[in-house]
Amino acid sequence: MAKVLVVGGGGREHAIVHALSKSSKVSEIYAAPGNAGIAKLAMCVHIKDTDVEELVAFAKAETIDLVIVGPEASLACGITDALIKENILVFGPTKAAAQIESSKIFAKDIMLKYNIPTGRYTVFNQFEEANSFVQISPLPTVIKYDGLAAGKGVVVATTYTEAEAALKDMLLNDKFGHGRVIIEEYLQGPEFSFMCFVHNETVIPLEMAQDHKRAFDGDLGPNTGGMGAYSPLPFITQEDYDFALNEIMIPTAKAMVKEGVPFTGVLYGGLIKTKKGIRVIEFNCRFGDPETEVVLPRLKSDLYDVILAILNGETPTLEWDKEYSLGIVLASKGYPNHYEKGFVIENADTEEFYHMGTAIDDKGNLITNGGRVLFAVAKAETLEKANQKANELVNQVKCDALYHRSDIGAKAYKK
Ligand code: AMP
Ligand code: GLY
Repeated sequence: MAKVLVVGGGGREHAIVHALSKSSKVSEIYAAPGNAGIAKLAMCVHIKDTDVEELVAFAKAETIDLVIVGPEASLACGITDALIKENILVFGPTKAAAQIESSKIFAKDIMLKYNIPTGRYTVFNQFEEANSFVQISPLPTVIKYDGLAAGKGVVVATTYTEAEAALKDMLLNDKFGHGRVIIEEYLQGPEFSFMCFVHNETVIPLEMAQDHKRAFDGDLGPNTGGMGAYSPLPFITQEDYDFALNEIMIPTAKAMVKEGVPFTGVLYGGLIKTKKGIRVIEFNCRFGDPETEVVLPRLKSDLYDVILAILNGETPTLEWDKEYSLGIVLASKGYPNHYEKGFVIENADTEEFYHMGTAIDDKGNLITNGGRVLFAVAKAETLEKANQKANELVNQVKCDALYHRSDIGAKAYKK
């Protein structure tokens, strides 16, 4: 029987821990740092998800058999490299391979070199130059910071004033740190997330999901880390699927091997179905959040078995529940900008809620402890029913400090 350590403490990690808790091969699950929901299924350890030294020391001391890493920040600071050095089995990319997410320019360079379809782009490091370029570009235009910015480093500018302000933030005020920017062609169409388990050239696709990035109903408001998701996707044809797998995901895994940065872990393609075909918006180097919370509940295969087989160079077949799975984020009012924490939450103490940012106060109450707080998941035979069920769950929660979207998946069933 295996001991598994899951690094991270959000809804994604709650879903991973939940899937592992159903495995017949796993005897103990640890989560660092975990959260109030995870604590019901795993032993939570008070170590920050970026404290590589402490995490490795813990894994060694507890003779952990497998480490699964959730957050990009942990991967970008080299947790995989440090674990490999100690001969501890880990499912997640090295720091070098994690650049596929941590550096948008690294990702774009690979796509350009290996003919992987993506939007046209130009790189800048000077404000004046970037601003002159943008002022003669067609609108909308897309401005991206070349580094990790928790999903907030992308501005789709619809006016030149907005574009200039974004460039000022990124290149003059170093809002996300000192770095470069990409100015990219605006792409239009439904976006979707294609996560694949990858080990070198082996690519095992998971079922696709769609995230909803904007804060409010009707895809309005600012971009967030994601306000809801569903899986599978009715608007993806077999042809789309084959193209995404054979022309994007497999070639990218192969390209990384050729470039000397082989990838192990979850390669996440943030893709868009434009009129001219499917294009890459971004790659992530880990499980998506909240996509994981709707995809893993549909996985019938044993997650631990599957990951172990992939790490051993095998190509396991994944089995999926055919039902729709749909989830809604309950976020703190003010998110993705300023918000307060510490509000008591009632009626969310069931299995249908994954915890994204929660804690327990000294009186034993469940309280808000992050921007995205809870994720309510429902399954049904139609997308519309799944949406209704998830909304019912969300509406039963008592907490005035939270808001949510009610239209997750609606574009796919309201024709
Ligand atoms: P990213 O962090 O690269 O996923 O970007 C966040 C969001 O910005 C995406 O999910 C899209 O909604 C939007 N976005 C990024 N790049 C583009 C693009 N080239 N065209 C249109 N929208 C984009
Ligand atoms: N849901 C978007 C992400 O995980 O980056």
